[in-house]
Amino acid sequence: MPVISAPHEFNEERLFVDLESIVGQPLYLKCEGFNFAGSIKLKAANEMVESAERDGVLRPDSVLVESSSGNLGVALSMIAASKGYRFLCITDARCNLSTRLLMEALGSQVHVVADLDANNGFLGTRIAYVRELCASDDRYVWLSQYTNPGNWRAHHRTTAPEIAADFPQLDVLFVGAGTAGTLMGCARYFRTWHRPVHIVAVDAVGSVAFGGEPGRRMIPGLGMSMRPPLLDESYVDEVILVEEADTIRTCHRLARRGFLFGGSTGTVVSGAAEWLARHGARDLTAVAIAPDLGERYLDTIYQTNWLQDLYGDLVLDDERMSTAARTDEAATRTPDRQRRA
Ligand SMILES: Cc1ncc(COP(=O)(O)O)c(C=O)c1O
Repeated sequence: MPVISAPHEFNEERLFVDLESIVGQPLYLKCEGFNFAGSIKLKAANEMVESAERDGVLRPDSVLVESSSGNLGVALSMIAASKGYRFLCITDARCNLSTRLLMEALGSQVHVVADLDANNGFLGTRIAYVRELCASDDRYVWLSQYTNPGNWRAHHRTTAPEIAADFPQLDVLFVGAGTAGTLMGCARYFRTWHRPVHIVAVDAVGSVAFGGEPGRRMIPGLGMSMRPPLLDESYVDEVILVEEADTIRTCHRLARRGFLFGGSTGTVVSGAAEWLARHGARDLTAVAIAPDLGERYLDTIYQTNWLQDLYGDLVLDDERMSTAARTDEAATRTPDRQRRA
């Protein structure tokens, strides 16, 4: 029975969903959304705050400041509230409303930037704002998730060994990349493991993280409008890019089976299922990482008007057809099963 006295002390480490019956490929999904911050970012936030405390960078009058599209902001809000620090999150218009409200409910201050940077994203604008703040007052402490080694070390110490413990025969691992903290922590861990693991990074079309062309991206979490400073591509075997429309269809396919995941999970699962189908990889042991759950996306990915405005009326048509096909199939299967019984 886990009993805790601070919210960051609990994280579900060993929950995997077998997705074979949903995506038609052998794929296990590691669920990272079951903690009080609701996402994998709790791990990076914990590691970075603890190391700043150890280094004497964080003092009682410090104000934590961080650029975040949401999940790290929520995790830092929670930790700051628990430890008595002030926290200011610099985010942008793509941050979900519920995520912003959540940070405020936890006592944080949220600043939303509105100007796009040169790569059609907001990251450059957010970081410029953080730098200005830090230059203006030395009480501000910027943990800098984009460059802080604690970000990838968290996953080297926790996420990767958690997967290794339950999948000793792992062949291929699919990891979405934002700051690349999860990707680099896992890739570095499996580089020295007892057997080779094919590391596949999954990114969104429109992200420039791996050198792609900049383009519109509306789903927060994955993708970057700059090259992630933590990324060392020599640890990555392959990169796949997923269109946002495919991300959305996959999110809805999972939701129709009762699994409500966040947008980046749709990206990773879509990329992984396509990769496994293309390689005819039925004998491989494959794991993908789901960074969060879907409730924070009810007014975006799971809202019809938002979808239609951005992606057109037909974005979910394939998904509706496959759901209908599945329903028909189930209907024709039922009498058969009854006859056997
Ligand atoms: C929902 C979601 N997915 C994926 C990621 C990417 O993780 P990382 O920054 O470790 O690359 C993030 C990071 O904030 C996220 O919030």
